[in-house]
Amino acid sequence: SIIVLDYGSQYNQLITRRIRDMGIYSELLPHTMSAQEIQERAPKGIILSGGPNSVYDDKALTIDPQIWQLGIPILGICYGMQLMMHSLGGQVQAAGAPEYGRAQITIEKTQNPLLQALPARQFVWMSHGDRVTAIPDGFETVAISDNTPYAVVADEQRQLYGVQFHPEVRNSDHGLEMLHNFAFQICGAQANWSMKDFIDEQIQKIRAIVGDRQVLLGLSGGVDSSVTGVLLHKAIGSQLTSIFVDHGLLRKGEADEVMASLEGKFGLNIIKVDAQQRFLDKLKGVSDPEQKRKIIGNEFIEVFNDEAQKLDGIDFLAQGTLYTDVIESGTNTAQTIKSHHNVGGLPEEMHFTLIEPLRTLFKDEVRELGEQMEMPHDLVWRQPFPGPGLGIRVLGEVSADKLQIERDSDYILREEIKKAGLDESIWQYFTVLPGMRSVGVMGDGRTYDYTVGIRAVTSIDGMTADFAQIPWDVLAQISTRITNEVAHVNRVVYDITSKPPATIEWE
Ligand code: XMP
Repeated sequence: SIIVLDYGSQYNQLITRRIRDMGIYSELLPHTMSAQEIQERAPKGIILSGGPNSVYDDKALTIDPQIWQLGIPILGICYGMQLMMHSLGGQVQAAGAPEYGRAQITIEKTQNPLLQALPARQFVWMSHGDRVTAIPDGFETVAISDNTPYAVVADEQRQLYGVQFHPEVRNSDHGLEMLHNFAFQICGAQANWSMKDFIDEQIQKIRAIVGDRQVLLGLSGGVDSSVTGVLLHKAIGSQLTSIFVDHGLLRKGEADEVMASLEGKFGLNIIKVDAQQRFLDKLKGVSDPEQKRKIIGNEFIEVFNDEAQKLDGIDFLAQGTLYTDVIESGTNTAQTIKSHHNVGGLPEEMHFTLIEPLRTLFKDEVRELGEQMEMPHDLVWRQPFPGPGLGIRVLGEVSADKLQIERDSDYILREEIKKAGLDESIWQYFTVLPGMRSVGVMGDGRTYDYTVGIRAVTSIDGMTADFAQIPWDVLAQISTRITNEVAHVNRVVYDITSKPPATIEWE
Protein backbone atom coordinates (compact mmCIF):
# COMPACT_ATOMS: atom_id res chain seq x y z
CA SER A 1 0.00 0.00 0.00
CA ILE A 2 0.85 3.66 -0.17
CA ILE A 3 -0.36 5.68 2.78
CA VAL A 4 -1.28 9.33 2.78
CA LEU A 5 -0.75 11.33 5.96
CA ASP A 6 -3.46 13.92 6.41
CA TYR A 7 -2.43 17.53 6.87
CA GLY A 8 -5.91 18.89 6.19
CA SER A 9 -5.94 19.80 2.51
CA GLN A 10 -9.29 19.83 0.71
CA TYR A 11 -7.67 17.50 -1.80
CA ASN A 12 -6.23 14.94 0.59
CA GLN A 13 -8.67 12.11 -0.07
CA LEU A 14 -8.23 12.73 -3.77
CA ILE A 15 -4.62 11.60 -3.42
CA THR A 16 -5.62 8.21 -2.00
CA ARG A 17 -8.25 8.02 -4.69
CA ARG A 18 -5.68 8.50 -7.44
CA ILE A 19 -3.47 5.80 -5.95
CA ARG A 20 -6.38 3.35 -5.63
CA ASP A 21 -7.24 4.07 -9.26
CA MET A 22 -3.81 2.72 -10.14
CA GLY A 23 -4.74 -0.56 -8.44
CA ILE A 24 -2.67 0.11 -5.33
CA TYR A 25 -4.32 0.10 -1.93
CA SER A 26 -4.17 3.50 -0.29
CA GLU A 27 -5.68 5.11 2.75
CA LEU A 28 -5.65 8.46 4.42
CA LEU A 29 -4.24 8.30 7.95
CA PRO A 30 -3.78 10.86 10.71
CA HIS A 31 -0.52 12.81 10.54
CA THR A 32 0.02 11.93 14.19
CA MET A 33 0.96 8.36 13.36
CA SER A 34 4.37 7.42 14.72
CA ALA A 35 7.19 6.03 12.60
CA GLN A 36 6.76 2.74 14.40
CA GLU A 37 3.04 2.49 13.62
CA ILE A 38 3.82 3.21 10.01
CA GLN A 39 6.56 0.63 9.92
CA GLU A 40 4.14 -1.99 11.25
CA ARG A 41 1.90 -1.35 8.26
CA ALA A 42 4.89 -1.74 5.94
CA PRO A 43 3.70 0.61 3.20
CA LYS A 44 5.65 0.85 -0.04
CA GLY A 45 5.46 4.62 0.08
CA ILE A 46 4.26 7.60 2.09
CA ILE A 47 2.65 10.76 0.78
CA LEU A 48 2.37 13.85 2.96
CA SER A 49 -0.72 15.80 1.93
CA GLY A 50 -1.09 19.54 1.55
CA GLY A 51 -2.73 21.60 4.24
CA PRO A 52 -3.83 25.12 5.14
CA ASN A 53 -1.26 25.70 7.89
CA SER A 54 2.13 27.29 7.91
CA VAL A 55 5.00 25.20 9.28
CA TYR A 56 5.83 28.14 11.58
CA ASP A 57 2.40 28.35 13.22
CA ASP A 58 2.23 27.56 16.90
CA LYS A 59 -0.37 24.99 16.04
CA ALA A 60 1.45 23.70 12.97
CA LEU A 61 0.82 20.02 12.26
CA THR A 62 4.07 18.13 12.67
CA ILE A 63 5.57 14.78 11.79
CA ASP A 64 7.48 12.13 13.72
CA PRO A 65 11.08 12.88 12.59
CA GLN A 66 11.88 9.16 12.74
CA ILE A 67 9.74 8.80 9.61
CA TRP A 68 12.54 10.28 7.49
CA GLN A 69 14.78 7.40 8.58
CA LEU A 70 12.44 4.54 7.71
CA GLY A 71 13.92 4.06 4.26
CA ILE A 72 10.42 4.23 2.77
CA PRO A 73 10.08 6.65 -0.18
CA ILE A 74 8.23 9.83 0.77
CA LEU A 75 6.52 12.41 -1.43
CA GLY A 76 5.61 15.71 0.19
CA ILE A 77 2.89 17.73 -1.52
CA CYS A 78 2.64 21.49 -0.87
CA TYR A 79 2.48 21.72 2.95
CA GLY A 80 3.92 18.21 3.02
CA MET A 81 6.94 19.43 1.06
CA GLN A 82 7.36 22.49 3.27
CA LEU A 83 7.21 20.27 6.33
CA MET A 84 9.88 18.03 4.82
CA MET A 85 12.13 21.02 4.06
CA HIS A 86 11.59 22.65 7.44
CA SER A 87 12.07 19.45 9.37
CA LEU A 88 15.28 18.42 7.58
CA GLY A 89 17.07 21.76 7.86
CA GLY A 90 15.81 23.81 4.93
CA GLN A 91 13.91 27.08 5.13
CA VAL A 92 10.29 28.07 4.56
CA GLN A 93 8.99 31.65 4.54
CA ALA A 94 5.76 33.47 3.94
CA ALA A 95 5.59 34.28 0.23
CA GLY A 96 5.00 37.96 -0.50
CA ALA A 97 1.80 37.08 -2.29
CA PRO A 98 0.08 33.71 -2.08
CA GLU A 99 0.12 31.74 -5.30
CA TYR A 100 -3.15 30.22 -6.48
CA GLY A 101 -3.89 28.70 -9.84
CA ARG A 102 -2.06 27.34 -12.83
CA ALA A 103 1.65 27.98 -13.08
CA GLN A 104 4.25 26.80 -15.52
CA ILE A 105 7.20 24.74 -14.33
CA THR A 106 10.44 23.93 -16.11
CA ILE A 107 12.14 20.64 -15.44
CA GLU A 108 15.89 20.94 -14.94
CA LYS A 109 16.71 17.33 -14.09
CA THR A 110 14.87 15.39 -16.76
CA GLN A 111 16.30 12.08 -15.55
CA ASN A 112 14.76 12.36 -12.10
CA PRO A 113 12.50 9.33 -11.59
CA LEU A 114 9.56 11.45 -10.41
CA LEU A 115 9.36 13.46 -13.62
CA GLN A 116 10.80 10.96 -16.03
CA ALA A 117 9.55 11.15 -19.61
CA LEU A 118 7.42 14.23 -18.92
CA PRO A 119 7.53 17.41 -21.03
CA ALA A 120 10.21 19.85 -19.90
CA ARG A 121 7.66 22.65 -19.61
CA GLN A 122 4.18 22.03 -18.26
CA PHE A 123 1.36 23.55 -16.21
CA VAL A 124 0.65 22.61 -12.60
CA TRP A 125 -1.86 23.70 -9.98
CA MET A 126 -0.41 25.89 -7.22
CA SER A 127 -2.20 26.77 -4.01
CA HIS A 128 0.09 27.98 -1.27
CA GLY A 129 0.88 30.94 0.97
CA ASP A 130 4.38 29.98 2.13
CA ARG A 131 7.35 29.07 0.00
CA VAL A 132 10.59 27.18 0.41
CA THR A 133 13.62 29.48 0.37
CA ALA A 134 16.41 26.99 1.11
CA ILE A 135 16.60 23.23 0.76
CA PRO A 136 18.32 20.81 3.15
CA ASP A 137 21.66 19.12 2.44
CA GLY A 138 21.33 16.23 0.08
CA PHE A 139 18.43 17.76 -1.85
CA GLU A 140 18.59 19.21 -5.34
CA THR A 141 16.27 21.28 -7.48
CA VAL A 142 14.46 19.17 -10.05
CA ALA A 143 12.06 21.76 -11.45
CA ILE A 144 11.57 25.52 -11.10
CA SER A 145 8.73 27.93 -11.77
CA ASP A 146 8.63 31.69 -12.25
CA ASN A 147 7.83 32.06 -8.58
CA THR A 148 10.11 29.53 -7.01
CA PRO A 149 13.42 27.85 -7.66
CA TYR A 150 12.03 24.88 -5.69
CA ALA A 151 8.91 23.73 -7.53
CA VAL A 152 10.15 20.14 -7.33
CA VAL A 153 13.02 18.97 -5.12
CA ALA A 154 14.49 15.55 -4.47
CA ASP A 155 17.03 13.65 -2.45
CA GLU A 156 17.30 10.54 -4.58
CA GLN A 157 19.62 8.80 -2.18
CA ARG A 158 17.15 8.98 0.71
CA GLN A 159 14.18 8.69 -1.70
CA LEU A 160 12.62 11.92 -0.46
CA TYR A 161 10.66 14.03 -2.95
CA GLY A 162 8.78 17.30 -2.65
CA VAL A 163 6.43 19.15 -5.00
CA GLN A 164 5.16 22.63 -4.26
CA PHE A 165 2.01 22.11 -6.39
CA HIS A 166 -0.88 19.63 -6.33
CA PRO A 167 -0.28 16.71 -8.73
CA GLU A 168 -3.56 15.07 -7.58
CA VAL A 169 -5.86 17.65 -9.18
CA ARG A 170 -6.73 17.55 -12.84
CA ASN A 171 -5.51 21.09 -13.37
CA SER A 172 -1.97 19.78 -13.09
CA ASP A 173 -1.49 18.54 -16.65
CA HIS A 174 0.91 15.68 -15.85
CA GLY A 175 0.18 15.30 -12.16
CA LEU A 176 -1.21 11.81 -12.47
CA GLU A 177 1.91 10.66 -14.29
CA MET A 178 4.03 12.04 -11.44
CA LEU A 179 2.00 10.08 -8.89
CA HIS A 180 2.27 7.09 -11.17
CA ASN A 181 6.05 7.48 -11.32
CA PHE A 182 6.22 7.83 -7.56
CA ALA A 183 4.09 4.74 -6.95
CA PHE A 184 5.61 2.38 -9.50
CA GLN A 185 9.13 3.66 -10.31
CA ILE A 186 10.14 5.01 -6.92
CA CYS A 187 8.13 2.90 -4.46
CA GLY A 188 8.05 -0.24 -6.58
CA ALA A 189 4.39 -0.80 -5.71
CA GLN A 190 2.35 -3.36 -7.62
CA ALA A 191 -1.11 -2.99 -9.07
CA ASN A 192 -2.99 -5.75 -7.27
CA TRP A 193 -5.87 -4.07 -5.45
CA SER A 194 -9.47 -3.72 -6.69
CA MET A 195 -12.99 -2.80 -5.60
CA LYS A 196 -13.60 -6.47 -4.95
CA ASP A 197 -10.94 -6.29 -2.24
CA PHE A 198 -12.63 -3.24 -0.79
CA ILE A 199 -15.88 -5.19 -0.45
CA ASP A 200 -14.17 -8.09 1.28
CA GLU A 201 -12.28 -5.76 3.61
CA GLN A 202 -15.42 -3.84 4.51
CA ILE A 203 -17.42 -7.01 5.14
CA GLN A 204 -14.70 -8.24 7.51
CA LYS A 205 -14.55 -4.86 9.21
CA ILE A 206 -18.31 -4.62 9.63
CA ARG A 207 -18.53 -8.13 11.06
CA ALA A 208 -15.68 -7.43 13.48
CA ILE A 209 -17.27 -4.20 14.71
CA VAL A 210 -20.86 -5.40 14.89
CA GLY A 211 -20.38 -8.91 16.25
CA ASP A 212 -23.80 -10.29 17.07
CA ARG A 213 -25.36 -6.90 17.68
CA GLN A 214 -28.02 -5.07 15.67
CA VAL A 215 -27.63 -2.32 13.09
CA LEU A 216 -30.17 0.20 11.95
CA LEU A 217 -29.81 1.83 8.55
CA GLY A 218 -31.31 5.05 7.32
CA LEU A 219 -32.44 4.50 3.76
CA SER A 220 -32.90 7.75 1.87
CA GLY A 221 -33.77 6.45 -1.56
CA GLY A 222 -30.44 7.44 -3.07
CA VAL A 223 -27.53 5.39 -4.39
CA ASP A 224 -25.40 5.83 -1.29
CA SER A 225 -27.71 4.45 1.34
CA SER A 226 -28.94 1.71 -1.00
CA VAL A 227 -25.39 0.53 -1.63
CA THR A 228 -24.69 0.77 2.10
CA GLY A 229 -27.78 -1.36 2.73
CA VAL A 230 -26.79 -4.08 0.30
CA LEU A 231 -23.21 -4.11 1.61
CA LEU A 232 -24.38 -4.41 5.22
CA HIS A 233 -26.91 -7.04 4.26
CA LYS A 234 -24.09 -9.05 2.71
CA ALA A 235 -22.05 -8.69 5.89
CA ILE A 236 -24.60 -9.22 8.64
CA GLY A 237 -27.84 -10.35 6.97
CA SER A 238 -30.80 -10.22 9.33
CA GLN A 239 -28.92 -8.22 11.96
CA LEU A 240 -29.68 -5.24 9.75
CA THR A 241 -32.98 -3.42 10.02
CA SER A 242 -33.56 -0.52 7.64
CA ILE A 243 -35.82 2.40 8.25
CA PHE A 244 -36.99 4.26 5.23
CA VAL A 245 -38.24 7.66 6.28
CA ASP A 246 -40.52 9.04 3.64
CA HIS A 247 -40.04 12.68 4.54
CA GLY A 248 -42.14 13.85 1.61
CA LEU A 249 -39.05 15.42 0.05
CA LEU A 250 -38.39 12.62 -2.40
CA ARG A 251 -38.89 12.81 -6.13
CA LYS A 252 -42.08 11.62 -7.76
CA GLY A 253 -42.52 7.84 -7.60
CA GLU A 254 -39.26 7.34 -5.75
CA ALA A 255 -40.50 5.91 -2.48
CA ASP A 256 -42.30 3.07 -4.24
CA GLU A 257 -39.29 2.26 -6.42
CA VAL A 258 -36.97 2.02 -3.44
CA MET A 259 -39.28 -0.35 -1.61
CA ALA A 260 -39.79 -2.51 -4.67
CA SER A 261 -36.11 -2.99 -5.36
CA LEU A 262 -34.46 -3.15 -1.93
CA GLU A 263 -37.18 -5.01 -0.09
CA GLY A 264 -38.61 -6.89 -3.03
CA LYS A 265 -35.43 -7.86 -4.82
CA PHE A 266 -32.68 -7.82 -2.22
CA GLY A 267 -34.70 -8.96 0.75
CA LEU A 268 -33.73 -6.15 3.11
CA ASN A 269 -35.92 -5.83 6.15
CA ILE A 270 -37.39 -2.33 5.74
CA ILE A 271 -39.71 -0.35 7.99
CA LYS A 272 -41.31 2.49 6.02
CA VAL A 273 -42.35 5.56 8.00
CA ASP A 274 -44.70 8.15 6.53
CA ALA A 275 -43.41 11.35 8.07
CA GLN A 276 -44.37 13.92 5.45
CA GLN A 277 -46.47 16.06 7.74
CA ARG A 278 -43.89 15.99 10.53
CA PHE A 279 -41.25 17.45 8.24
CA LEU A 280 -43.57 20.06 6.75
CA ASP A 281 -44.56 21.23 10.21
CA LYS A 282 -40.94 21.61 11.27
CA LEU A 283 -40.03 23.49 8.10
CA LYS A 284 -42.91 25.94 8.34
CA GLY A 285 -41.70 29.52 8.38
CA VAL A 286 -38.04 28.58 7.88
CA SER A 287 -36.24 29.95 4.84
CA ASP A 288 -32.53 29.87 5.70
CA PRO A 289 -30.83 27.02 3.77
CA GLU A 290 -28.45 25.94 6.51
CA GLN A 291 -31.25 25.97 9.06
CA LYS A 292 -33.43 23.90 6.73
CA ARG A 293 -30.66 21.35 6.31
CA LYS A 294 -30.15 21.12 10.05
CA ILE A 295 -33.89 20.77 10.69
CA ILE A 296 -34.26 18.03 8.09
CA GLY A 297 -31.18 16.22 9.40
CA ASN A 298 -32.35 16.47 13.00
CA GLU A 299 -35.88 15.43 12.21
CA PHE A 300 -34.56 12.48 10.26
CA ILE A 301 -32.64 11.30 13.31
CA GLU A 302 -35.60 11.94 15.58
CA VAL A 303 -37.90 9.85 13.47
CA PHE A 304 -35.16 7.26 13.67
CA ASN A 305 -34.95 7.43 17.42
CA ASP A 306 -38.71 7.13 17.66
CA GLU A 307 -38.73 4.06 15.46
CA ALA A 308 -35.61 2.55 16.98
CA GLN A 309 -37.10 2.79 20.44
CA LYS A 310 -39.83 0.48 19.25
CA LEU A 311 -37.13 -2.01 18.33
CA ASP A 312 -35.03 -3.89 20.81
CA GLY A 313 -31.30 -3.66 21.30
CA ILE A 314 -30.09 -1.54 18.39
CA ASP A 315 -26.49 -0.42 18.91
CA PHE A 316 -25.41 0.96 15.58
CA LEU A 317 -26.68 3.44 13.06
CA ALA A 318 -25.37 2.97 9.52
CA GLN A 319 -25.28 5.82 7.04
CA GLY A 320 -24.31 6.20 3.41
CA THR A 321 -21.99 9.13 4.03
CA LEU A 322 -19.50 9.68 1.19
CA TYR A 323 -16.16 11.35 1.23
CA THR A 324 -17.60 14.41 -0.52
CA ASP A 325 -20.08 14.87 2.33
CA VAL A 326 -17.33 14.57 4.90
CA ILE A 327 -14.90 16.99 3.33
CA GLU A 328 -17.47 19.67 2.49
CA SER A 329 -18.83 19.60 6.01
CA GLY A 330 -15.35 20.31 7.32
CA THR A 331 -12.84 18.04 9.05
CA ASN A 332 -10.56 19.28 11.80
CA THR A 333 -8.72 21.51 9.42
CA ALA A 334 -10.78 21.99 6.27
CA GLN A 335 -13.38 24.75 6.17
CA THR A 336 -17.15 24.21 6.11
CA ILE A 337 -18.71 24.95 2.73
CA LYS A 338 -22.17 23.48 3.35
CA SER A 339 -23.25 21.38 6.29
CA HIS A 340 -24.33 18.19 4.67
CA HIS A 341 -27.29 16.29 5.90
CA ASN A 342 -25.52 13.11 6.94
CA VAL A 343 -22.86 14.80 8.97
CA GLY A 344 -23.75 18.30 10.12
CA GLY A 345 -27.34 17.64 11.11
CA LEU A 346 -26.72 15.08 13.82
CA PRO A 347 -27.88 16.15 17.26
CA GLU A 348 -25.43 16.11 20.16
CA GLU A 349 -27.20 13.44 22.17
CA MET A 350 -27.19 10.81 19.45
CA HIS A 351 -28.04 7.40 20.77
CA PHE A 352 -26.14 5.25 18.29
CA THR A 353 -22.60 4.52 17.25
CA LEU A 354 -22.18 5.40 13.59
CA ILE A 355 -21.12 2.98 10.87
CA GLU A 356 -20.24 4.65 7.60
CA PRO A 357 -18.63 2.09 5.28
CA LEU A 358 -18.56 4.41 2.23
CA ARG A 359 -16.89 7.26 4.08
CA THR A 360 -13.68 7.05 2.07
CA LEU A 361 -15.29 6.71 -1.35
CA PHE A 362 -16.23 9.11 -4.10
CA LYS A 363 -19.51 8.78 -5.97
CA ASP A 364 -18.18 6.93 -8.96
CA GLU A 365 -16.43 4.45 -6.67
CA VAL A 366 -19.74 3.81 -4.91
CA ARG A 367 -21.34 3.02 -8.25
CA GLU A 368 -18.55 0.62 -9.08
CA LEU A 369 -19.10 -0.97 -5.70
CA GLY A 370 -22.82 -1.35 -6.43
CA GLU A 371 -22.11 -2.91 -9.81
CA GLN A 372 -19.66 -5.33 -8.20
CA MET A 373 -22.41 -6.41 -5.82
CA GLU A 374 -24.67 -6.98 -8.82
CA MET A 375 -27.18 -4.33 -7.91
CA PRO A 376 -29.51 -3.36 -10.77
CA HIS A 377 -27.99 -0.96 -13.26
CA ASP A 378 -30.80 1.59 -12.90
CA LEU A 379 -30.42 1.73 -9.15
CA VAL A 380 -26.66 2.06 -9.26
CA TRP A 381 -26.78 4.78 -11.88
CA ARG A 382 -29.55 6.67 -10.17
CA GLN A 383 -28.25 10.18 -10.02
CA PRO A 384 -26.98 11.50 -6.72
CA PHE A 385 -29.69 12.96 -4.55
CA PRO A 386 -29.05 15.13 -1.50
CA GLY A 387 -30.18 13.94 1.93
CA PRO A 388 -32.43 16.99 2.47
CA GLY A 389 -34.02 16.16 -0.88
CA LEU A 390 -36.47 18.54 -2.45
CA GLY A 391 -36.34 20.54 0.77
CA ILE A 392 -33.30 22.34 -0.64
CA ARG A 393 -34.63 22.49 -4.22
CA VAL A 394 -37.66 24.45 -3.16
CA LEU A 395 -35.72 27.55 -2.19
CA GLY A 396 -36.73 29.45 0.90
CA GLU A 397 -39.79 28.36 2.81
CA VAL A 398 -41.07 24.91 1.89
CA SER A 399 -44.79 24.21 1.46
CA ALA A 400 -46.84 21.29 0.17
CA ASP A 401 -47.93 23.31 -2.87
CA LYS A 402 -44.41 24.28 -3.82
CA LEU A 403 -43.23 20.72 -3.37
CA GLN A 404 -45.93 19.61 -5.79
CA ILE A 405 -44.71 22.03 -8.46
CA GLU A 406 -41.12 20.98 -7.86
CA ARG A 407 -41.94 17.28 -8.04
CA ASP A 408 -44.03 17.55 -11.21
CA SER A 409 -41.60 19.75 -13.10
CA ASP A 410 -38.68 17.56 -12.06
CA TYR A 411 -40.49 14.48 -13.29
CA ILE A 412 -41.00 16.02 -16.72
CA LEU A 413 -37.34 16.98 -16.89
CA ARG A 414 -36.29 13.44 -16.02
CA GLU A 415 -38.64 11.93 -18.60
CA GLU A 416 -37.38 14.17 -21.38
CA ILE A 417 -33.70 13.70 -20.51
CA LYS A 418 -34.18 9.96 -20.57
CA LYS A 419 -36.13 10.09 -23.83
CA ALA A 420 -33.27 12.06 -25.39
CA GLY A 421 -30.80 9.36 -24.24
CA LEU A 422 -28.90 11.83 -22.08
CA ASP A 423 -29.60 10.28 -18.69
CA GLU A 424 -26.22 8.61 -18.30
CA SER A 425 -24.03 11.32 -19.77
CA ILE A 426 -25.43 14.05 -17.53
CA TRP A 427 -24.23 13.52 -13.99
CA GLN A 428 -27.10 15.17 -12.19
CA TYR A 429 -30.20 16.96 -13.43
CA PHE A 430 -33.16 18.35 -11.60
CA THR A 431 -35.42 21.35 -11.38
CA VAL A 432 -35.40 23.98 -8.68
CA LEU A 433 -38.17 26.28 -7.57
CA PRO A 434 -36.64 29.64 -6.72
CA GLY A 435 -39.98 30.84 -5.34
CA MET A 436 -39.94 34.02 -7.46
CA ARG A 437 -42.88 34.89 -9.63
CA SER A 438 -43.02 36.86 -12.83
CA VAL A 439 -45.53 38.11 -15.37
CA GLY A 440 -46.54 35.97 -18.32
CA VAL A 441 -49.33 35.61 -20.81
CA MET A 442 -51.38 32.50 -21.36
CA GLY A 443 -54.27 32.42 -23.80
CA ASP A 444 -55.46 35.99 -23.64
CA GLY A 445 -54.79 36.49 -20.00
CA ARG A 446 -52.00 37.89 -17.91
CA THR A 447 -50.45 35.46 -15.43
CA TYR A 448 -48.30 36.06 -12.39
CA ASP A 449 -46.75 32.71 -11.60
CA TYR A 450 -43.68 30.75 -10.61
CA THR A 451 -40.39 30.30 -12.43
CA VAL A 452 -38.80 26.85 -12.60
CA GLY A 453 -35.01 26.53 -12.95
CA ILE A 454 -33.32 23.63 -14.72
CA ARG A 455 -30.02 22.48 -13.25
CA ALA A 456 -27.99 19.89 -15.14
CA VAL A 457 -24.27 19.25 -14.66
CA THR A 458 -21.50 16.95 -15.73
CA SER A 459 -19.05 15.96 -13.02
CA ILE A 460 -16.77 13.15 -11.96
CA ASP A 461 -17.01 13.33 -8.22
CA GLY A 462 -19.28 16.25 -7.34
CA MET A 463 -16.34 18.34 -6.12
CA THR A 464 -16.31 20.34 -9.33
CA ALA A 465 -18.90 20.43 -12.11
CA ASP A 466 -19.71 21.99 -15.47
CA PHE A 467 -23.20 22.86 -16.62
CA ALA A 468 -24.38 20.25 -19.11
CA GLN A 469 -24.84 21.36 -22.72
CA ILE A 470 -28.32 19.99 -23.31
CA PRO A 471 -29.39 20.44 -26.95
CA TRP A 472 -31.77 23.35 -27.55
CA ASP A 473 -34.57 21.19 -28.90
CA VAL A 474 -34.56 19.05 -25.77
CA LEU A 475 -34.61 22.17 -23.60
CA ALA A 476 -37.46 23.58 -25.68
CA GLN A 477 -39.49 20.42 -25.21
CA ILE A 478 -38.88 20.44 -21.45
CA SER A 479 -39.88 24.07 -21.20
CA THR A 480 -43.04 23.59 -23.25
CA ARG A 481 -44.13 20.59 -21.25
CA ILE A 482 -43.45 22.16 -17.86
CA THR A 483 -45.37 25.35 -18.64
CA ASN A 484 -48.24 23.37 -20.19
CA GLU A 485 -48.52 20.58 -17.67
CA VAL A 486 -47.54 22.07 -14.32
CA ALA A 487 -50.04 24.49 -12.86
CA HIS A 488 -48.67 27.87 -11.68
CA VAL A 489 -45.50 27.83 -13.76
CA ASN A 490 -45.18 30.39 -16.54
CA ARG A 491 -41.41 30.58 -17.03
CA VAL A 492 -38.48 28.15 -17.28
CA VAL A 493 -34.81 29.17 -17.03
CA TYR A 494 -31.58 27.21 -17.48
CA ASP A 495 -28.71 27.50 -15.00
CA ILE A 496 -25.45 27.98 -16.93
CA THR A 497 -23.00 28.19 -14.03
CA SER A 498 -20.25 25.73 -13.20
CA LYS A 499 -18.99 24.67 -9.76
CA PRO A 500 -17.10 26.65 -8.64
CA PRO A 501 -18.24 29.43 -8.39
CA ALA A 502 -21.77 28.02 -7.93
CA THR A 503 -22.53 24.77 -6.13
CA ILE A 504 -24.54 22.03 -7.83
CA GLU A 505 -27.58 22.51 -5.61
CA TRP A 506 -28.99 25.99 -5.23
CA GLU A 507 -29.09 25.80 -1.44
P1 XMP B 1 -23.13 20.86 -3.94
O1 XMP B 1 -24.48 21.49 -4.02
O2 XMP B 1 -22.49 21.05 -2.60
O3 XMP B 1 -23.40 19.31 -4.09
O4 XMP B 1 -22.25 21.24 -5.07
C1 XMP B 1 -22.43 18.34 -4.36
C2 XMP B 1 -23.12 17.02 -4.43
O5 XMP B 1 -23.61 16.65 -3.12
C3 XMP B 1 -25.02 16.53 -3.14
N1 XMP B 1 -25.50 17.09 -1.88
C4 XMP B 1 -25.77 16.38 -0.79
N2 XMP B 1 -25.69 15.06 -0.56
N3 XMP B 1 -26.46 15.40 1.63
C5 XMP B 1 -26.05 14.57 0.65
O6 XMP B 1 -26.02 13.37 0.88
C6 XMP B 1 -26.55 16.75 1.48
O7 XMP B 1 -26.93 17.50 2.38
C7 XMP B 1 -26.18 17.25 0.20
N4 XMP B 1 -26.15 18.51 -0.32
C8 XMP B 1 -25.72 18.37 -1.60
C9 XMP B 1 -25.49 17.28 -4.36
O8 XMP B 1 -26.74 16.81 -4.82
C10 XMP B 1 -24.36 17.02 -5.32
O9 XMP B 1 -24.48 15.76 -5.91
